Amino acid sequence: MKARHRFLSLLIFAAAAAVLAAAVSVYLTWEKAIAPTVPPVPSSFDRQLVLHGSRVAALGDCAVCHTAPGGKPYAGGLPLATPFGTIYTTNITPDTETGIGSWSLEAFTRAMRRGISRDGHQLYPAFPYVHYTRMSDGDIAAAYAFLMQRDPVVSKAPDNALIFPLNFRPLVAFWNVLFLREGPEARDASRDDKWNRGRELVNGLGHCAACHTPLNPIGGEQWGKAFDGGVVDGWEAPSLNTLTASPHPWTKSQLIAYLRTGMSSQHSAAAGPMLPVTQELATVPEEDVDAIATYLLSLQKPRIRDVMPPDHAGADKTSIQRGAVLFSAACAACHGENSPMQSLGERPSLATSSTVNAATPRNTVQMMLEGVQWQGEREVRYMPPFKHLLNDRQVADIANYLRATYTDQPPWKDVVQTAAEIRKGDQSR
Ligand code: HEC
Ligand code: HEC
Ligand code: HEC
Repeated sequence: MKARHRFLSLLIFAAAAAVLAAAVSVYLTWEKAIAPTVPPVPSSFDRQLVLHGSRVAALGDCAVCHTAPGGKPYAGGLPLATPFGTIYTTNITPDTETGIGSWSLEAFTRAMRRGISRDGHQLYPAFPYVHYTRMSDGDIAAAYAFLMQRDPVVSKAPDNALIFPLNFRPLVAFWNVLFLREGPEARDASRDDKWNRGRELVNGLGHCAACHTPLNPIGGEQWGKAFDGGVVDGWEAPSLNTLTASPHPWTKSQLIAYLRTGMSSQHSAAAGPMLPVTQELATVPEEDVDAIATYLLSLQKPRIRDVMPPDHAGADKTSIQRGAVLFSAACAACHGENSPMQSLGERPSLATSSTVNAATPRNTVQMMLEGVQWQGEREVRYMPPFKHLLNDRQVADIANYLRATYTDQPPWKDVVQTAAEIRKGDQSR
């Protein structure tokens, strides 16, 4: 009897807890639809506001994600590979059926600040609203005006292919409790305007942490590790708070050059997912990039190189020798001493390259496999992909050779394995 009684009260307790949990989740995930509006007449927007909006869109890389390969700008359809499946970007042109033509500024603002679509459904955080929430009201209104002035394009994104249970959108509400801190940051009165604007651009529109901060297993940025460096699309996004770890410290002018031209004479050239970021930053006024550089330099931690003495012990000598032969055959025409690219093009020497000096071989391997895409008239930036010419061991041999020849850093470990893993990731996409 007694046991049964206890069982019953347990059952009642469990039922009450379930009802409470259901009520809490309804409360958390319930979002109202915002009534559709008639698209504003494009000419009704102030020209200055629209102009400012184009700058905002560039700083936020909206077109980079919302344009499919070969597709119309902002019409969406680009697949984003996540550990949880594929998410397609949506159409943000002012088409009323398939785009955001019937969205009021209020609905747009809610999407940017809280990741909720006009009809009330939760958006996935592959859309970096956890960062855009830091934008000012003025920037959001300008982006809205700019997008509403685009040509409407009829285009519906393919359905997402996400794993269970993440294909159930309301779950994002719980994720938001952990990772969304809504609204702009308060001004830091101890710093000047440029620093404050830089912080707003880096943490907000620029969403730099989305790539440059390590992620946890549920796709949130790890707490307390902002800008410690992350991995995106198989590339390493280096830490942004120990930039001074490269052989030549990053100065402000080097940073501005890198961010606006994709090239800094004493460091890296931007490749992989960073290249489009720099192509967008090339179109905004220098004062914005200056503010970004100012803020980044204020984040720097002490130099790592000074506390880590170089150690070449353990280098694989035969691998390095094989790498030297391969380098002279495949790479020296461009990267060798006195090659036209080095002597005429003011290209960074591999000795100062952050890529070759990095703690992991990931981006050096990526460079070899993928090269630098043909940029049309900017042909000097071209590097052919070697993924069909070199096998994993050859890639590793060249990497080991570069590391030993151009840097005083300890040898990389397991480069063959890194190459194999990166190739495997490529095929699954
Ligand atoms: C890193 C990629 C990425 C960037 C950069 C990005 N978006 Fe998106 N955005 C997405 C994805 C993915 C979705 C769809 C999310 C979903 O379906 O849950 C989306 C959805 C949206 C939506 C909701 C559309 C709808 O129909 O619900 C709006 C509005 C939007 N983005 C605006 C912008 C603006 C404005 C910018 C630039 C400031 C921007 N996005 C930059 C990835 C991105
Ligand atoms: C879509 C992902 C992505 C975003 C967003 C992004 N980055 Fe990067 N970033 C990368 C990757 C990947 C690299 C490495 C590229 C390479 O080695 O060619 C990189 C490299 C860099 C470097 C060079 C670091 C070094 O040590 O060589 C700087 C500086 C940088 N990013 C700054 C920024 C800033 C500032 C922002 C925001 C305005 C930003 N990044 C946004 C992915 C990203
Ligand atoms: C046709 C010319 C060409 C060839 C051949 C070539 N590269 Fe490149 N490489 C480039 C260009 C252009 C860049 C972009 C940066 C620049 O302009 O310096 C680059 C960048 C790199 C970088 C990144 C440097 C940094 O930090 O920005 C590495 C590493 C690299 N190449 C390695 C190699 C290796 C290894 C080979 C041979 C397997 C090779 N490259 C062959 C043209 C070439």
